[in-house]
Amino acid sequence: MAPLKALQWATLIVPNLLAQLPFGASATETQVVLQPPIDPGNEPSLVPLQRRLHGRFLHITDLHPDEHYKPHTSTEEGIACHRGNGPAGVYGAETSDCDSPLSLVNVTLAWVKEHLRDEIDFVVWTGDSARHDSDEELPRHNKDILAMNRRIAGAFVETFSDDNGLMVPVVPTFGNNDIYPHNILLPGPNDILKTYTSIWKPFIPEAQRHSFEFGGWFYVEVIPNKLAVFSLNTMYFFERNAGIDDCIHPSEPGYKHFEWLGVQLDFMRSRGMKAILMGHVPPARTPGKQLWEETCWQKYTLWLQRYRDVITGSLYGHMNIDHFLLQDTHEIDMALIQAPGNGKATFRETIEDELSIQSSADYLRELRDHWATLPSPVALEQDFDEAKKRRGRGKKGKDKFGGKWAERFQLTLISPSVVPNYFPSLRVFEYNITGLEDAPTWADATRTAKLNEVVSTHDESDIRELKRREDPDFEIEKKKKKKGKGKKGQKPPEDPNLRLPDPPAKGTPPGPAYLPQTLTFLGYTQYYANLTYLNNDLVHDPGNDDSASSQGWNPGKHKGKTPKHGKPEPREFGFEVEYSTFDDEIYGLDDLTVRNYVRLAHRIGQASKKAKSEAEDEFDEITTTSGAANDGGEDEEDVESDSEVWEFTKGGKKKKDKKHKNKKARKTWLHFLTHAFVSTRSRDELEDL
Ligand SMILES: *[C@@H]1O[C@H](CO)[C@@H](O)[C@H](O)[C@H]1NC(C)=O
Ligand SMILES: *[C@@H]1O[C@H](CO)[C@@H](O)[C@H](O)[C@H]1NC(C)=O
Ligand SMILES: *[C@@H]1O[C@H](CO)[C@@H](O)[C@H](O)[C@H]1NC(C)=O
Repeated sequence: MAPLKALQWATLIVPNLLAQLPFGASATETQVVLQPPIDPGNEPSLVPLQRRLHGRFLHITDLHPDEHYKPHTSTEEGIACHRGNGPAGVYGAETSDCDSPLSLVNVTLAWVKEHLRDEIDFVVWTGDSARHDSDEELPRHNKDILAMNRRIAGAFVETFSDDNGLMVPVVPTFGNNDIYPHNILLPGPNDILKTYTSIWKPFIPEAQRHSFEFGGWFYVEVIPNKLAVFSLNTMYFFERNAGIDDCIHPSEPGYKHFEWLGVQLDFMRSRGMKAILMGHVPPARTPGKQLWEETCWQKYTLWLQRYRDVITGSLYGHMNIDHFLLQDTHEIDMALIQAPGNGKATFRETIEDELSIQSSADYLRELRDHWATLPSPVALEQDFDEAKKRRGRGKKGKDKFGGKWAERFQLTLISPSVVPNYFPSLRVFEYNITGLEDAPTWADATRTAKLNEVVSTHDESDIRELKRREDPDFEIEKKKKKKGKGKKGQKPPEDPNLRLPDPPAKGTPPGPAYLPQTLTFLGYTQYYANLTYLNNDLVHDPGNDDSASSQGWNPGKHKGKTPKHGKPEPREFGFEVEYSTFDDEIYGLDDLTVRNYVRLAHRIGQASKKAKSEAEDEFDEITTTSGAANDGGEDEEDVESDSEVWEFTKGGKKKKDKKHKNKKARKTWLHFLTHAFVSTRSRDELEDL
């Protein structure tokens, strides 16, 4: 790889931790407890970590720090907590559209350092580390955005390091507010990508800096040889990026992004590794609103289907609300993917960058209404077996889910933000590390710089070929050659540029997103900080709460209130658990596999008027309410009424059953909404949305 050109104007704020050198432990020795160097000589003495995997990682997103934020200022539009008098709290103005005070970022990272750092294996950080441009008196400039990003990157290094450098890998990506002008990122290499190559030097593996500078994408082997986190550059998929067109023309950076992703995921597959995908803007696509350009969504969905044996999960930010998406592979349109210019992309209304609570509720309702059309998955396994039997008898078997692990669908998990549009929030995932108890960690590999040796146990020529293909220079070379030689030599394939990924080899078991196994996500705990309590500054006056604010700027639920203290008297900051999928009985997720989410989505969908009410569906619903995926959260009375309802159904009296079911669906839906808005809204307020 070519070395980086000198970046005189981009100063480095953090030492290049990855360049620190080993002290002579071999790759195999890293598997046992490392001994400290006997004679370190002049080398800095590196104390081995002796860390083990914890089976946990942090997802943090949308910090939006604002250096101009001032407590006790106004939350009104155009002022954005910069001036005037008002309810803005020391740690932020919860439920408003103001950005985060630096104090919130500071106490958040301090809390993470104290409570999480030593218990996690890696950090997924999905972008937007600069303020919005919401105050005409203080317009945002490129240098401010980059300076803030440098500062925050430095704070992350500090948070996750000991004296010897980073203890866990941190995988960043940028958001639409980390670039200037906002939303616009031109194809690389360019100044923005060069600058982030420098800002994130401690986070991007050295061998990939060149390709990062080209496309803003990279991956980190967060568990060497086992698991990689892929940082996708969603700016090249983002409908609002005026610098790009689509993902099907070979000149487009989005096209190249998928090319790179395919090569890398092939590489992961050939090494028996798994991959987590992460990005800033999620592939949201509801009937009225769409965040990604359609052909990018199409390719993404196809790629995820083809690499379903490799991909463990997909994590995004940007939306501020806590929710999830299901991509349906039945919506893949090969004509759109294979024929640039011929396909007719359906363009939908694009949605605003960040959503007001009202438009968020509309968006979530759209998701719910779509989920209402999902086939009833309660008897997933049964359905699959029966379809198979029917096929066995020569009849057409309808397999509605893509097998009993619901491989027709893909799951996107979207975490709520640190910026307190609701309450500041963090998510800690747990994943299955069975069999990896003694696996060398990232820190072992990085601090001993033996990763290359470990990698090279695989077939060298394979890797060379893959490396060649991933190298953008090779790409350019290839194109030049093609131009020069014309069509001589080998017979060209139909579209020489398009390489569709291979599906899993026959007989490959479903991947960890579908079938519970090592690396499968087991659950997550959602943390939040109750700023109303922590700011300790407002007279409780629920009557004044302006919950369902209209479209546009949201001044928050404390609009018009005055602080009770002349000088802020905040309480000691801390996050607490909002909910955990491990004991959330209404969600009933015994792990985060796709089929559990298909079940949950279906149940939420039942609260929609569009939900089907066929007798068969209801029967399915009832027969499995004893499983983990039941509506839960109910007292014994409810459990009893389940069997009662069943009796009614058998007897043909559906009315009571239906009413009961609707009530339960509504409860699940309101529960989902409570989480979506990070518990800032009461049930009554949510009912009114
Ligand atoms: C947070 O603030 C304290 C005190 O001002 C400072 O010492 C510390 O370095 C800050 N931490 C971060 C992560 O910025
Ligand atoms: C974790 O993975 C192991 C190995 O694949 C499997 O046997 C076990 O059931 C999984 N645990 C859970 C809780 O899914
Ligand atoms: C947050 O704190 C306020 C003030 O103490 C309290 O009224 C409110 O119920 C709390 N919210 C949650 C979700 O605990």
